[in-house]
Amino acid sequence: MKKIVANIKMNQTPSRSREYLINMISRFDSDKNVDLTLCLPYTSLYLGKLLLNGTKIKLGAQNLHEEECGSYTGEISGAMLRESGVDTVIVGHSERRVKFKENNNQINKKIKVALKNGLGVILCVGESLAEKNTLKTLETLKTQIEEALKGLYENELERVTISYEPIWAIGTGKNATIREIEYGVRAIRKVIEDDFSLKAAKSITVLYGGSVTNKNIHGITHAKGVNGALIGGASLEEGGFLNLISLV
Ligand code: 13P
Repeated sequence: MKKIVANIKMNQTPSRSREYLINMISRFDSDKNVDLTLCLPYTSLYLGKLLLNGTKIKLGAQNLHEEECGSYTGEISGAMLRESGVDTVIVGHSERRVKFKENNNQINKKIKVALKNGLGVILCVGESLAEKNTLKTLETLKTQIEEALKGLYENELERVTISYEPIWAIGTGKNATIREIEYGVRAIRKVIEDDFSLKAAKSITVLYGGSVTNKNIHGITHAKGVNGALIGGASLEEGGFLNLISLV
């Protein structure tokens, strides 16, 4: 079973999400070996809960706040997401790390609060172009993963997926090569092996994200150690996205 996750980012009003979900529900082939999650904007989540109820498509969110509740004007908690029907939440996306200055300590807290509220987590990790060019990919991945997963018990990893998203590949049309993806994914599994166990390293779900299209999806989802993909731009239009899913 391959895991495919759509990251809609800040791209749908509720009425557009309604149309998108209706099309996805009616045309998604649930017999295909694909575990599909749609990460919608906050304002579309409750609608997603109502429409996706009884289907095989899961509802995802793109972020949450690291505290349980309180005076955090404008923020959204894990409990709010859970009650809005969310199955899984993306944490540590590079756009949040870079544009919203999120650090690994906050990301660690977000993961803990998400798990506490019964949510699955997709932890995004990946190096910048400067880090790639100075051969710091391994070091970056190790630090990001170790700090994000600090204090977690091994059995909690069952609800954690790691997505390898090199920053230079996101939204650029320049996807990582299969060799680069396999290198990054192997490094991710090695950190899990060193910090948890070989069993955890083998069983954790690892995705790739960054300029995935219907031209490269098949090769990516069949790369060694890759369990699926996290897709931005190519998930926005239902027809194209369903076509991409059929090529997994
Ligand atoms: P693109 O697929 O648009 O490159 O975005 C990838 C991404 O950020 C997934 O989280």
